[in-house]
Amino acid sequence: MSGLFLTLEGIDGAGKSSHIDALAVLFKAQGRNVTRTREPGGTPLAETLRGLILEQPMDALTESLLVFAARRDHVLKVIEPALARGDVVLCDRFTDATFAYQGAGRGFDMNVLSALERWVQGGRGIGTESAEPASPTAASDSLLQPDITLWFDLLPAIAAERLAGARVPDKFESQPVEFFRRVAAGYAERAAGAERFVRIDASQARDQVWQQIEAALFDRGLIAKGTGESL
Ligand code: TMP
Repeated sequence: MSGLFLTLEGIDGAGKSSHIDALAVLFKAQGRNVTRTREPGGTPLAETLRGLILEQPMDALTESLLVFAARRDHVLKVIEPALARGDVVLCDRFTDATFAYQGAGRGFDMNVLSALERWVQGGRGIGTESAEPASPTAASDSLLQPDITLWFDLLPAIAAERLAGARVPDKFESQPVEFFRRVAAGYAERAAGAERFVRIDASQARDQVWQQIEAALFDRGLIAKGTGESL
């Protein structure tokens, strides 16, 4: 059975993470092995970098380099091996978040992000410790990309209301709503450019959001029938 790489994306407060448990249950009920992971993070090194990225002030290039360094370790040690085993990889954020947050949100150069993406996700022999990074001019069709991306779309003002008082905000969560308007626009632009995106209307009640997820997976032939229940 071939692996399936599923990512969840959206602005902070859109509610994506609350559906990962149910997704894992759903795919396991279909007889699949599931690897659950997240970015930044997913390996000890990448989780250490996550702490720095979410807490320390830094310029956008430093942030982008750290995010991609964490991703490289994560891709090599977790994502590629899991896909090679035939697992369903459920990853809470991936490179779309970099284009949305560092690119659209912070206004960092998208061409530099694209070059880093090719270095990190285009390596020959990815999945082995000796993997060589790809040339920054590698063809985009040889990049490791998600098979399907659930994009939780929510107005930034509503997301801010949901986040208010929920927990101590990290560096990104404490950004003004205007930052999240740019991030949301960045996601919309990414989604318009790739068929792997499924737009989930995240303004709906949790059960209805789950129904949208199940329907999207069923329509794409990724689950045999709707057997999952929202947890
Ligand atoms: P999370 O709270 O959904 O786990 O995401 C962590 C934060 O990191 C979130 O505010 C988005 C941000 N982030 C980036 O800025 N760039 C990235 O490439 C990734 C993966 C996350």
